[in-house]
Amino acid sequence: MSKNEMQIDFTQLANVHFLQNLLVCPLCQARLDFYHDAIACTSCAQKFPQVQKNCIDLLPDHLVENEWNQWGERQQEMEQWYSDLIAIPLHAEWCFANDYTPYAPLLATLSGLVLDIGGGNGVVRHFLPKDVQYILLEPSLEWLATEWTLIAKRYPCMETKPFFVRGIGEYLPFPQQSFDAVLSFWSMNHAHQPEQVFHEVYRVLRAGGRFLVILEDMEPLWRDFAARTYITLGVAHWAHTFVQKLCCLGRQKWSLQNDHVRIQESEIQQWIAGNFQIVRRSWIGQYLTFELQKI
Ligand SMILES: C[S@@+](CC[C@H](N)C(=O)[O-])C[C@H]1O[C@@H](n2cnc3c(N)ncnc32)[C@H](O)[C@@H]1O
Ligand SMILES: [Zn+2]
Repeated sequence: MSKNEMQIDFTQLANVHFLQNLLVCPLCQARLDFYHDAIACTSCAQKFPQVQKNCIDLLPDHLVENEWNQWGERQQEMEQWYSDLIAIPLHAEWCFANDYTPYAPLLATLSGLVLDIGGGNGVVRHFLPKDVQYILLEPSLEWLATEWTLIAKRYPCMETKPFFVRGIGEYLPFPQQSFDAVLSFWSMNHAHQPEQVFHEVYRVLRAGGRFLVILEDMEPLWRDFAARTYITLGVAHWAHTFVQKLCCLGRQKWSLQNDHVRIQESEIQQWIAGNFQIVRRSWIGQYLTFELQKI
């Protein structure tokens, strides 16, 4: 195979060379060589076979296959959920509108180069300013299925494939200080080692860069029950979580969806200490949302 002959069909993409120049080895962060059917690290010699035409595959397969058994099972469950969702495109449109609309004002403030970790089908582009350069990092190839264009009437961005890099948040294939902002929207609880994702995000963000994280299955603090943003989630939700919180005073653990990994807010506080400052912490649509800024 000859060098620099990568045949990826990014027909819709303006500048694939930009992406090639940005990427590094996810394992050792050394420079990569791009071949016709593989990408190889110039330092640790790791090879990443390239099978898909519409993404760059830098998933460290050997790690995921040998050590991440439960993660694989959780991924299968998650993929089945989304495959059922897009089976009724109107339902999928409604679901994304419901989830993303509350974040539209926040997303509209982003600029520069933005990385979306676990970005799924890239529908978030609909809410980003037009001049944002968007890169999606995702382990699941299911999102490249043509079915997702079925929601393009409501989300015209879905006509075009994003810069799709296959990978995991724990091993980001980007050099330090590359991004102006990083998103993890409903993906942190799907990771295998969320702590490592936080460290990696810190590494790839420029100083002052923003990290927006939406978390699921989070246990509210006692003071949240008195906070306006929590109360406006509705009486039923308030009462249900209050009773659950009382039960947690005993041995019961906060409920967790099957395909999620448990994350406690106290852990997040430890993971970000000295690296990020909390600009905003809020409950938006039942999700605990952090707007962090790299110190
Ligand atoms: C609930 S989906 C959210 C997708 C998208 N952010 C959205 O808003 O529609 C969670 C995503 O996290 C991805 N994911 C799972 N483990 C990951 C990891 N270790 N690193 C990055 N993404 C991961 C999954 O493949 C999945 O696409
Ligand atoms: Zn390497």
